[in-house]
Amino acid sequence: FEIKDKFPENFLWGGATAANQLEGAWNRDGKGPSIADVLPSGKDRFVIASGQDFVWQAEAEKYKYPNHRGIEHYDRFKEDIKLFAEMGFKCYRFSIAWSRIFPNGDEAIPNEKGLEFYDKLIDECLKYDIQPVITISHYEMPLKLAKDYGGWKNRKLIGFYENFARVVLKKYQKKVRYWMTFNEINSAFHFPVMSQGLVPSNGAKDFTNIFQAWHNQFVASALAVKIGHELNEDLQIGCMILYATSYAYDANPVNQMANLKQMQDFNFFCADVQVRGKYPAYTARMLKEYNVDISKLQITKEDIAELAKYTVDYIGFSYYMSMVTEVTRDDQNVVSGNLLGGVANPFLKSSDWGWQIDPMGLRIALNELYDRYQKPLFVVENGLGAKDVVETNGAIHDDYRIDYLSQHIVAMKAAIADGVDLMGYTPWGCIDLVSASTGEMSKRYGFVYVDLDDKGNGTLARSRKDSFYWYQKIIKSNGKVK
Ligand code: BG6
Repeated sequence: FEIKDKFPENFLWGGATAANQLEGAWNRDGKGPSIADVLPSGKDRFVIASGQDFVWQAEAEKYKYPNHRGIEHYDRFKEDIKLFAEMGFKCYRFSIAWSRIFPNGDEAIPNEKGLEFYDKLIDECLKYDIQPVITISHYEMPLKLAKDYGGWKNRKLIGFYENFARVVLKKYQKKVRYWMTFNEINSAFHFPVMSQGLVPSNGAKDFTNIFQAWHNQFVASALAVKIGHELNEDLQIGCMILYATSYAYDANPVNQMANLKQMQDFNFFCADVQVRGKYPAYTARMLKEYNVDISKLQITKEDIAELAKYTVDYIGFSYYMSMVTEVTRDDQNVVSGNLLGGVANPFLKSSDWGWQIDPMGLRIALNELYDRYQKPLFVVENGLGAKDVVETNGAIHDDYRIDYLSQHIVAMKAAIADGVDLMGYTPWGCIDLVSASTGEMSKRYGFVYVDLDDKGNGTLARSRKDSFYWYQKIIKSNGKVK
């Protein structure tokens, strides 16, 4: 019964990004358009991304698409990886743009030019002993799969994803040990467009489609685990969920029960299937409450067997904020969030974008997840989206970010002492990139500043913020927060 009072020696300190939010080069070297490429900047983005309206905007001239240019990482990745190495990154989480490898998603043969980019990117990381951590699909499915196949509710997508996963797992299995199958798979509750390619014309409003899409993704994820483990038993293939610790507003049992359901439906449902290998007991209750037409769901015996057999090796999750469940009153203050909003917690402060900052919530999340699954955990996203000011001498004093991250590191350390098996930490947007929910550049998360504004003006020059030097020390000292 020895208390672990420090981070493990092999702890994976690093940072996280996603292809569509930083690469740019959206139509170069054979890349096809992805779902992220048709999300405009401005207020329409949120409306579209959350599936309330969609007119295949890539065809509409009036919009600006920030993901098309990203931060031009496609051309500057060497400079960026060098900066990560300077901070001492042990790992770097990024995603492979599906539409770079299979431009339309339904081809049989991969686009070699697309693979060449990831060959170079991976080798660049390895040059500095940075372990790549790859998300196979991060909100960037080929557009054609949404447009012509109706998104993930179509079973054919399982086969298309399987081809994609096989190509990248096979090609990189000797160089990349850590993988995740789908980014924030549970986010379909709020963002069915980005995570499932479900738009209103594909039936995004009907939970029957969302559940069918989830089922297909679960099977696809299981097949990726199967392929990966058959190729190389050393590979670690995880799921990835969006976790928002949720509190009942008060001791009213009605709120407590509602919160328990919120935890099951939002935080646990997908991970329960991917980690435990079967649908949890409360699935029937959930299907009923979301008016799912069970007679329409296509779930085969073979699917069930595959889910049971090919469960994930670890749980990756994002953690930014916590939530409050209150169902007995309608006069509460509300807060926003990119995917989640709800009742304000009077004990917490919010970021400029209304996300409630709650480091203790991370310690709680780690305990809840570890109690439930007893599998290694990996915090693969965490961070503060904030507006940074560049001083006349070029310095960026982002003490608010240092403060946010410090508190979350302290919380992780406490969770390790609580007995949690934690593998690593990759704060989100280690270099400033395009915001997923708003398309803004001004919502910055990085240790590295990128000179680019919301209108697309700027030199794209990279510079080091104060948090860059702070994180360098954190990594060097293996997590010592002063
Ligand atoms: C997560 C996503 O939900 O949050 C990322 O996996 C996203 O893609 C991140 O960028 C932060 O959200 P936002 O909307 O501030 O970019």
